[in-house]
Amino acid sequence: MAETIPDLRGIPKPRAYQELKGHSSAILEGVTDPIAAMATIAALIHHAFGHLWTGFYRVIEPGVLLRVGPYQGSLGCLDITFGRGVCGTAAAEMRTVIVPDVGKFPGHITCDARSRSEIVVPVLGPKGDLIAVLDVDSEQLDAFDKEDQRGLEQLLSCFATMTR
Ligand code: SME
Repeated sequence: MAETIPDLRGIPKPRAYQELKGHSSAILEGVTDPIAAMATIAALIHHAFGHLWTGFYRVIEPGVLLRVGPYQGSLGCLDITFGRGVCGTAAAEMRTVIVPDVGKFPGHITCDARSRSEIVVPVLGPKGDLIAVLDVDSEQLDAFDKEDQRGLEQLLSCFATMTR
C-alpha cells in the first residue's frame, strides 16, 4: 500500500479535511468491514492533526452500552454507558458534541489528564442506526469547531454506505 498519512497541521481546516477524505476514500475503496475502516480512519485523523486521542466507541447494546473500538493514543476506558460523559451524551442524543473545555463538562470521563477539549461525532450505519461514536481529544483548549464537525461528519459518511 503506497498511501501515507499527510501532515495537515497548519492547513485551513476545510482543505485539510478534503485532503483527508481523499486519502480515506482511496484506502477504503471496496472495504466492507467497519472495524477495518474505523482503524484506518482513526490512524489517519490522529496522525494528520497530531491529536491526543482519536478513536471509536462502538454500540454494543443500543441505547445502553458503548465499548471501545479501534483507537490511537494512550489507554482509553473500555465501556461507557449511554448518557455518560461526552461520548455517552453524543450517543444518547445522536448528535455531534463539541466541548471547548472538558473541565466545564459535567460528568466528563477523564481517561488522560492532558485532555483539554474534545469533539464526539455519531457514526451512522446503512440503516441510519447509530453504530458508534468517534471521539477526538486535544491537549489544547477550544481545539474544535463547526469546521471539524463538518469535516469529520463527511469523513464518517462512508459507514452509511458500507454493506457486507
Ligand atoms: N472523553 C470521553 C471519555 C473517553 S476518553 O477520553 C478516551 C468522554 O467523556 O466521553
